[in-house]
Amino acid sequence: MAIEKVSTLLKMADESNTSVIGFNCIDYNTVYAVCHAAEIANTPAIVMLYPEHCIKNHVSNLSAFAGMFKGIAEQYQVPLALHLDHSSDINYILEAIKAGFTSVMYDGTRIPVEENIENCKKVVEIAKVFGVDVEAELGYVGFASNSDEDNADLYTKASTAAHFSEETGITSLAIAIGSAHGFYTKPPKLDIDRLIEINNATDTYLVLHGGSGIPEDQLNQAFKNGINKFNVGTEFFQLYYDTIRKYCDEFGAAGNPFDLPDYVHNELVAYLVNKMKLSKFN
Ligand code: 13P
Repeated sequence: MAIEKVSTLLKMADESNTSVIGFNCIDYNTVYAVCHAAEIANTPAIVMLYPEHCIKNHVSNLSAFAGMFKGIAEQYQVPLALHLDHSSDINYILEAIKAGFTSVMYDGTRIPVEENIENCKKVVEIAKVFGVDVEAELGYVGFASNSDEDNADLYTKASTAAHFSEETGITSLAIAIGSAHGFYTKPPKLDIDRLIEINNATDTYLVLHGGSGIPEDQLNQAFKNGINKFNVGTEFFQLYYDTIRKYCDEFGAAGNPFDLPDYVHNELVAYLVNKMKLSKFN
C-alpha cells in the first residue's frame, strides 16, 4: 500500500537531506500522472488540492477528490500522500479531515501573527485527534505577478519562526525566502542564508512554495539546507493546458476524445519524472 502520511514523507526527505515535491492537482488526469510518475521515478510525492478548485471552480469536491486519490494511489508501491493546500477557513479544514485528507495547511498569513498562532493551535488540536498533519505559513509567500518574491519585508524571520513552531505544534512551516506563486517575470533569488538561520532556529520541517521557475541550482541549495517539502502548481497546470491544445492542433477534427487522456498522461508523466529527479532520496 503506497498511501502514507505527509509527515512520514517529510521525515524520509529530512533523513535523505532532500525535499519531497507536492504537486497541485485538479482532476483524475493530474492525480493519476503524479502517482504514476512517482512510481516510475521511484520517488515519493504529494498530491495537493487548492480549496478554490472545489469552492470556486467546482472541478471536484473534498470527498470525491480524496476518494479518487485513494483509488489511484493504492495501486502503486511508492509512498504517496494527500494534502489540502492553503485554507484559511477552519471549518473547511475540518471538512477536509472528515473527507479523508491526512494533511492540511492552515494559511493565516493575512492576519496578525498572534491570531495566526491561536488559529493554528486550534487546527493542530483538532488535527491531532484524527492523526492529521498541519502545515502553516509565516511571513508571506505572495504572488510573482506583484514581484512579492523581491520584497524582503515579507520574508520569514528566524526568531518568529522558532516562537511560532513551538507555540503551535505544527508539523511543517512554509517560509518566505524569495519565492512567490505563479510565473516569475525574472529568475528569483532565494535567500539561502536566511533559510539556514531559520533551519537552525527550529526543528519543524520547512516548506518552499512558489516552485514554478526557481532555477535548479537554487533548489538544490534549498533542499540541502533544510527545505523538506517543495510545492509546484503553475507550471504543471500550464503544461496540462498546453498539452490539450497541442493535441487539438495536431489532430484537429480527426482527434478522438478517448485518445486524449493517454496523450495527456504521457506528456505530464514525462515532465513529472524529470521534475522528481530534484528529490534525491537515499
Ligand atoms: P506555483 O504555482 O508558483 O508553482 O506554487 C505552487 C504552490 O506554492 C502551492 O502552494
